[in-house]
Amino acid sequence: MFKILYLFFFALQCLLCTSSTNAEIINTNVERLLDLSSQLVKTTIKISAEETTGKPITEYVFLVGEPNLSFISLKDDTEKNIQLRKNKELINGEQSYTIIFAKGSPKKSFAIETVSSKNIRPHPEEIEQNDKQLVRYNGRLYVYSKYKTVVQKTNVKLSSANILSHTQVKPYTVGSNKINLGPYEDVEALSEQELVIHYENQTPFLTVNALERTIELSHWGNIAIKEEIQLTHAGAKLKGSFSRYDFQKEGRSDHSAVKSYKTYLPASASGVYYRDTNGNISTSNMNLVRDFIELELRPRFPLFGGWKTKYTLGYNVPSYEYMYNDGNKYQLKMHLIDHIYDNMVIDEAVIKIILPEGCTNVQFSTPYQISRRPNQLVHTYLDTIGRPVVTFSKSNLVESHISDFTLNYSFEKVSLLQEPLLVSGFIYVIFLFTIVLLRLDFSITSHSHKE
Ligand SMILES: *[C@@H]1O[C@H](CO)[C@@H](O)[C@H](O)[C@H]1NC(C)=O
Ligand SMILES: *[C@@H]1O[C@H](CO)[C@@H](O)[C@H](O)[C@H]1NC(C)=O
Ligand SMILES: *[C@@H]1O[C@H](CO)[C@@H](O)[C@H](O)[C@H]1NC(C)=O
Repeated sequence: MFKILYLFFFALQCLLCTSSTNAEIINTNVERLLDLSSQLVKTTIKISAEETTGKPITEYVFLVGEPNLSFISLKDDTEKNIQLRKNKELINGEQSYTIIFAKGSPKKSFAIETVSSKNIRPHPEEIEQNDKQLVRYNGRLYVYSKYKTVVQKTNVKLSSANILSHTQVKPYTVGSNKINLGPYEDVEALSEQELVIHYENQTPFLTVNALERTIELSHWGNIAIKEEIQLTHAGAKLKGSFSRYDFQKEGRSDHSAVKSYKTYLPASASGVYYRDTNGNISTSNMNLVRDFIELELRPRFPLFGGWKTKYTLGYNVPSYEYMYNDGNKYQLKMHLIDHIYDNMVIDEAVIKIILPEGCTNVQFSTPYQISRRPNQLVHTYLDTIGRPVVTFSKSNLVESHISDFTLNYSFEKVSLLQEPLLVSGFIYVIFLFTIVLLRLDFSITSHSHKE
């Protein structure tokens, strides 16, 4: 009896497994845009997939294929009700995501964007002051996929027309600052073929090694923002000594050394300061552009490859633009991080939100995963119990991470009176004390002097 049952299950299993090997997903068409024109590797991959037996596709596994992934998202114009879920296990050492479709159909078309940092390396690693910065990208000629691809092509965008060398697998065409690779037909699943491009790239290779952003909230109408930033020029290192004379004489604007860069502040920012360890640095170029302020930051010395700098940037914004309240419930909605320079990379950001004293029920939500650090209390003058501080961190951030967090809390308005009461109470006590003191003083000194 048992044996028969066993055989039956065995047969069923075989049936299932054969049907699952016959049915497979293939990529009918893949188009990749590979943008290597800055220090970041940005890809947009459009995929048309099909289930060969006509079964509905409900899940598709996407392999990232680029190391040091900073950001990934489905492109907006992709169909609705589609989700991206990160998988725990690696496939051939690659990070993978599963795209989940709410509605299955045998044919699917979607697009995925990725941004990765530190995959474009200076080559040579050291250059002299007046040399051009050359870089090398090591990637994959074929879009790395778990599935077979019928036809695919890649358009590569570069920062200049000066291309020293590149992988040459026909067909391909080379334009002024672009290379079009393919179309390549019948590419097997998990095909590995290297793509190497050696080219000139003088765009700023700046890395923020550490960002500490402090957002201090007050119920008196102001939010103070302070950013402490450590920055390194991570491009080709400067070989030999630096001559300011040569640098000024040459005055090339496309030099790999960074003289200045533009940072964006909210349009309502006021009281802007910019200082390093030696004191204030003037910030003369401040322009209102559409809905933000463009501020030109000019470190005390130009930054060459391998050079570092450290500075603090601060400003105030009115709280009515970021805070909402309903009775004793408050909500703060603000950027987690802000724009520091174009095509930025932040190795590690720590964000601290200092709330007014007496806040309770603090709830917090972010558009992407962050690491929450334990809550703290800080004491500033006039505080009695201390202010709650919410702290969190995240590594490998790029501009795509500029989006809002939401923080909810409760606050009794009566507590608002605490500080003024404390101040007036304090002044009142001083008055009383002086009056008493003066009286005492007069009587005693006048007596003692006469004797
Ligand atoms: C970036 O990826 C390369 C190659 O996988 C690795 O050696 C390097 O450590 C990574 N960098 C960071 C900052 O993770
Ligand atoms: C630096 O700037 C701040 C803010 O604008 C100002 O309060 C301070 O007096 C300045 N310090 C010096 C030394 O100029
Ligand atoms: C904050 O409050 C709003 C409105 O009450 C609510 O929609 C939102 O989900 C809350 N967010 C968090 C993180 O609790």
